[in-house]
Amino acid sequence: MKRAKWSGQLAFILAAAASAIGLGNLWRFPYLAAQYGGGAFIAIYLILVVTLGFTLMLTEITIGRKTHQSQLTAFHRINKKWGFLGVLGTIIPLLIAPYYCVIGGWVMKYFASYAQMIFTGTQLMGEGAVNSGPFFQSFISSTFAPFSYTLVFILISFAVILLGVKHGIEKANLVMMPILFVMGFSLTIYIFSLPGAIDGVRYCLVPNLDGFREANGNFSFALLGKTILGAMGQMFYSLSLAMGIMITYGSYMRKEDSIENSVRRIELFDTAVSVFASLMIIPVVYIFAVKSGMPVKEAMNAGPGLMFITLPKVFATLGTFGTWAAVGFFMLVLFAAFTSSISILEACVAAVCDIFHIKRNKVIFGMMIFVTALASLSAFGYGPWAAVKIFGLQFLDFFDFITNSVLMPIVGALTCIFAGWVMKLKSITEEIELSGHPFRSRALYAVMVKWVAPMLIIAILISEICRAFGIGGWSI
Ligand code: PHE
Repeated sequence: MKRAKWSGQLAFILAAAASAIGLGNLWRFPYLAAQYGGGAFIAIYLILVVTLGFTLMLTEITIGRKTHQSQLTAFHRINKKWGFLGVLGTIIPLLIAPYYCVIGGWVMKYFASYAQMIFTGTQLMGEGAVNSGPFFQSFISSTFAPFSYTLVFILISFAVILLGVKHGIEKANLVMMPILFVMGFSLTIYIFSLPGAIDGVRYCLVPNLDGFREANGNFSFALLGKTILGAMGQMFYSLSLAMGIMITYGSYMRKEDSIENSVRRIELFDTAVSVFASLMIIPVVYIFAVKSGMPVKEAMNAGPGLMFITLPKVFATLGTFGTWAAVGFFMLVLFAAFTSSISILEACVAAVCDIFHIKRNKVIFGMMIFVTALASLSAFGYGPWAAVKIFGLQFLDFFDFITNSVLMPIVGALTCIFAGWVMKLKSITEEIELSGHPFRSRALYAVMVKWVAPMLIIAILISEICRAFGIGGWSI
């Protein structure tokens, strides 16, 4: 059978960007950047994207285009002994999809709450959104609300997959993504004009080593390692790497399109959205911390709640217009979340279809039950099951940690070793140059894929595991 193909390079870039740009950029990146010291985290992230991220994305797309297979069979096709890597990589989206839908549910709740505020004229979070923190807390810790929203999010995502309106969604993306850019840009400019914002912008952009000092002022390598691991996990997550999505997308790519240029553009879009989201959120946290007399460090440590607690305060300063802006904003975030969740769920469905050769519709139905069951752990995890912890983490944080900080680095390192030592540079270069463009970053790529990437990933992973189990005196 002839394999489906993207209509061109732009279609490919847009599809990959639609998968990449999502909650990872708008929700996860800003809270990590805030927590890990702002500028220093962003600087480390940028270095990682242009080196490690570039290497991995290029590798995955090339493997896909060369084999015309999705990840489950792609590695096996090139070398039988490496088939296990496809299986390992398939587990990751199965663990990410459920908790992604829970966060999608949170976004939906905010969209609904703002819509309600418009219709009823009430202030659900108090005057000036002073109670945005308690509002968020009481929502995620309530018994059924988080699960109900998760369920709606799951049902809509699967409905789209079932109806196969994926292409329609990608067309809609063409309109929604630019609107998201423009809205984000306007909000950022507005935030910059608030009194005191400039210190927050500085916190966000100027790398500062204070984030790596312990309470007694000593520089801590453990904190640096933790930050690099955090940035690396974020990079995998945000660029949709190490879970086969880029392999599958690459398998639909035309030979005449340039892989190298596409990778650069996808990275640029994705990173720009993340940095903008931070410039929108972090200065606001800063201003409100200073205003309320809270230590900045403590305010920055809000974690997953950051977007849901601080942005409402900005919207509140804009009066009625702010409520409308908030509806628009959360609608666009919701849209970005849907396009990403659909790409993860699609990856899960395609993998199961490939392994078991079951009818697609049956797989979709089974997957919906599986995702709902696993998502319920994360959805109830902050509420009725708050006392249940795995390695000291709540379910949602546990799934986030195990995928982004453990499994994705392992799959990422193995993929590099596979490309550098098993496939070898020659065959990768051949595939990349099929488009007629020379492989410009070949030298950088060669060093990265064979040596730097695997060693860096493994070193950080080991140090992190030692830290987690308190081996060798690491502690934070
Ligand atoms: N990259 C997406 C984001 O930033 C999340 C995602 C992860 C999508 C894995 C697909 C696969 O939100």
